[in-house]
Amino acid sequence: MNTILLVDDNPANLSVLSDALDQEGFEIWVAKSGRVALERVKYALPDLILLDIMMPEIDGYETCRQLKANSQTQNIPIIFMTALSDTANKVEGFQIGAVDYITKPFQQEEVISRVRLHLKLHELAEKLEQKNTLLEENFAELSLAYKNLKQMQIKLIQSEQLSSVGQMISGIAHEINNPVNFIYGNLAHASEYTQNILNLLRIYQEEYPIPTPRIQAELEAIDIDFLQYDLLKLINSMNIGAKRIHEIIKSTRIFSRIDETVMKLSDIHEGIDSTLSVLNYRLKSKLEYPSIEVIKNYGQLPLVECYLGQINQVFTNILNNAIDALNYYNQQRSLEEIIKEPSKIEICTTVIDNWIAIKFADNGLGISEEVQAKIFEPFFTTKSAGKEIGLGLSISYQIVVEKHNGNIYCKSIPGKGTEFTIEIPVKH
Ligand SMILES: Nc1ncnc2c1ncn2[C@@H]1O[C@H](COP(=O)(O)OP(=O)(O)O)[C@@H](O)[C@H]1O
Ligand SMILES: [Mg+2]
Repeated sequence: MNTILLVDDNPANLSVLSDALDQEGFEIWVAKSGRVALERVKYALPDLILLDIMMPEIDGYETCRQLKANSQTQNIPIIFMTALSDTANKVEGFQIGAVDYITKPFQQEEVISRVRLHLKLHELAEKLEQKNTLLEENFAELSLAYKNLKQMQIKLIQSEQLSSVGQMISGIAHEINNPVNFIYGNLAHASEYTQNILNLLRIYQEEYPIPTPRIQAELEAIDIDFLQYDLLKLINSMNIGAKRIHEIIKSTRIFSRIDETVMKLSDIHEGIDSTLSVLNYRLKSKLEYPSIEVIKNYGQLPLVECYLGQINQVFTNILNNAIDALNYYNQQRSLEEIIKEPSKIEICTTVIDNWIAIKFADNGLGISEEVQAKIFEPFFTTKSAGKEIGLGLSISYQIVVEKHNGNIYCKSIPGKGTEFTIEIPVKH
């Protein structure tokens, strides 16, 4: 049931109106003055107010102004009642916020239909307002959900990238480790035994300088002089090869610390070196690309509390981008230009207070300001479709900023090169 507050100093008017409206099923509250009306609305709010203009003390206009100034009552529709039919009064009524006016003497039908109309209008306006707020809320929720989804996707891909690739690498490293140690460890013995046998052969030759024809034939068949010379060289290169595999496996194991659940004190230089070792195949010259020089300017770094496996992932992403940029640049340069200004990546580490900084600077084509603004966004890439997906830097950002409370930023002079800086606190 709708409630209507009738405000009029004339008792006859009040009774006529309240009877008429009462019959229509409205609940009627009455107030004999503006002051009483203003008191009344403090306790309960009517759905509509019928307000007389000419009243002693506080007149209708002033009552209306006060109702409109109060946030509790400002939205209640007010209809003025006036005996005055001149335009100026009506205009003033509208100006201070009335929705309509009715003139005395009243036409009951008119009063009722106007009251009905304004109640309906007010109800609709309120519904619209609610719908609007709901829409705004929904929109805000939706944007948030979308943002969360993107974050989730990155986290998923990040953990996938770390775990599946990392797991495979560490699995392979683990499997190869034993057989390689076997070869690497025994090569020293093999080399020693071979030397001993060759030595023995030499002693035989000295003690029995004239071989029998059968021995002589065999010595010639196997070309003993070359064999002796080559065998030692061969063992030597096997040694170098085995040593290299041994190093790669060691790097790989440092690189892919996927099982790290707590931060450990780590040697950042060891992390960079193992990453470089894993990426070595991309730095060496190939048919279509000249080699890329890596210049290390390492400072004195303390052990840093971090997830080194994840930090290595950041190094990999940044180095891969630098290599991509340098290769892309070289495709546009002539051999002469490349020789004059060879591709290089400079890695510099420093410590400032309780922070360490690692800088990777390449002398590629650089990044325009427009692109720089977007490089940390997920799925942003300038590389051809299918080659890269644009997640490297957003994952790096998450690892450095969110997991390590650090900073990552990029400085670039288009045409000159790009420098990425990673800063992380030594302790957490
Ligand atoms: N060293 C760099 N030199 C030039 N552009 C770079 C460099 N590093 C990153 N970028 C730009 O940042 C973009 C986003 O990098 P990233 O998030 O790793 O995605 P992706 O390598 O998959 O494109 C790259 O597409 C490239 O345009
Ligand atoms: Mg990348």
